[in-house]
Amino acid sequence: MTELLALTPDELLTTTRAVRKRLDLERDVPLEVIHEALEIAVQAPSGSNRQGWQWIVVTDPDIKQQIAAYYRRSWEAYSGVAADAPAEPAVGGEPASVGERIRDSSSYLARVMGDVPVLVIGAITVDEGGELPASNQAGLWGSLLPAAWNFALALRARGLGTTWTTLHLKYEKEVAQILGLPANVRQGVLLPVAYTIGTDFKPGPRADFDAIVHINHW
Ligand SMILES: Cc1cc2nc3c(=O)[nH]c(=O)nc-3n(C[C@H](O)[C@H](O)[C@H](O)COP(=O)(O)O)c2cc1C
Repeated sequence: MTELLALTPDELLTTTRAVRKRLDLERDVPLEVIHEALEIAVQAPSGSNRQGWQWIVVTDPDIKQQIAAYYRRSWEAYSGVAADAPAEPAVGGEPASVGERIRDSSSYLARVMGDVPVLVIGAITVDEGGELPASNQAGLWGSLLPAAWNFALALRARGLGTTWTTLHLKYEKEVAQILGLPANVRQGVLLPVAYTIGTDFKPGPRADFDAIVHINHW
């Protein structure tokens, strides 16, 4: 088994960040590490224990670049700027705001997505025609996303990192075609996986706790 970082459970849960600029694009990721993390991931719950998840692990440079091109196109439409546009200079030497930092690091990821050592797509099987259910979609996605997050946690425990991404889903059909996915396999998340540059991560900024927790009534 791969050596684990010395993190308490709470440290693991609070320091598994969206890693973009600190993905090490130069260091190879052995497939055994991905397998190990996926085996841990699928200990997650799923509705009726159906375990309908599917994991597409992409290491082929050409296929990664094809997926990355769709990701980048969607990112540019979403952000309204070209991924390689220079970052706006900070106003009056002010430190960049959280929003600015996310934009800057997400534009970086949009540029390098195809160079990240491994892309992992988490998907789930649905009915034959491939339609998503008309109601209770939480039941469907709730049977994939906890496992995908467990995968991110298992990666972090091993010194790797990722960012949860969904922007490629604007081109879900095109990416499904690249990967040869059957029509009834629907994608939920694209995780670019690499070793992290350094392993020291801190808890992230979060909204005021009292504004989101409701005891007994709203
Ligand atoms: C449903 C969902 C979709 C996301 N999509 C993207 C994405 O397409 N690209 C990206 O760079 N980050 C994406 N993110 C990452 C968020 O920006 C990140 O989780 C958030 O900024 C918190 O980061 P932190 O945990 O490091 O504080 C997504 C996160 C979630 C939960």
